[in-house]
Amino acid sequence: MEIFYEIKPLRKRLSALRKQGKKIGFVATMGALHDGHASLVEASNRDNDVTVVSVFVNPTQFNNPDDLAKYPRDLQADIKLLEYNEADILFAPSESEMYPEEDNRQFELGAVAEVMEGKYRPGHFNGVCQIVSKLLSIVEPDNAYFGQKDFQQIAVIRAMVRKYMRDFKGKIVSCPIKREADGLALSSRNQLLTPEQRVSALLISKTLFKAKEMSDNGSTQAQIIDYIKKSIATDANLCLEYVEIADRDTLQPIASEKPENAVICITVYDGKVRLIDNILL
Ligand code: PAJ
Repeated sequence: MEIFYEIKPLRKRLSALRKQGKKIGFVATMGALHDGHASLVEASNRDNDVTVVSVFVNPTQFNNPDDLAKYPRDLQADIKLLEYNEADILFAPSESEMYPEEDNRQFELGAVAEVMEGKYRPGHFNGVCQIVSKLLSIVEPDNAYFGQKDFQQIAVIRAMVRKYMRDFKGKIVSCPIKREADGLALSSRNQLLTPEQRVSALLISKTLFKAKEMSDNGSTQAQIIDYIKKSIATDANLCLEYVEIADRDTLQPIASEKPENAVICITVYDGKVRLIDNILL
């Protein structure tokens, strides 16, 4: 695997590959890589000749300084996982390389970025748009892969590309959530859980699976939400931040009593660790 720490030499290498007719796939990450990230690399390898992965803990998307400070970082382990999964190029820039000066851009994306994570993490999606727009402009991939684990993030990135990156020719590809055998969605933040909290975390996916079953059996939105709130409240380590049933495309509330073309998005604090998950209905 080739490793680049700077934009200029990476661009030069990618331009040479493009001239050879190579198709380029891209996976953006913040490191602390796990099998969820690996599944995106695998999807990219399947569709493209060259897979580029970025590892950069983007400070502008953290609205909580403590969360940024605690975010797990281990580049050597990331390199191992990427080599094992046959990524071709790693881009691991420094903060000054990505932000030589302050990025003051404000992305106005409307409702899709204002609900749920947009509401509870003010500024978060603006930071995501800042870094993703920079990375997409640097790599200029044919395909860029994002996980449905961050369901709203994909919708926001699609809206950002449509509105602010009109010249971008690549495709934004969404990939399914990778889960542990017991159901817990893989996340870099899972490393921060104590063994006891790890047991509690399991209730999140378990609750979502049951909620989907309820929806399949004709329950209303109100019944499903009521069940989820009660279920999460049974574990003393868990504290629900929000749960919403939303339209899969617009992320807005659904008018009908029973959910259709919907997604349930949930955020739960497990101790001090903020975990997100979702399920399609
Ligand atoms: P990060 O949390 O590292 O995630 C990088 C990519 O991996 C995202 O597209 C995310 O949705 C995907 N991913 C994480 N866990 C997954 C899982 N269990 N199954 C499938 N995909 C999973 O998301 C970010 O970083 C950042 O916001 C970023 C887009 C890199 C911008 O800084």
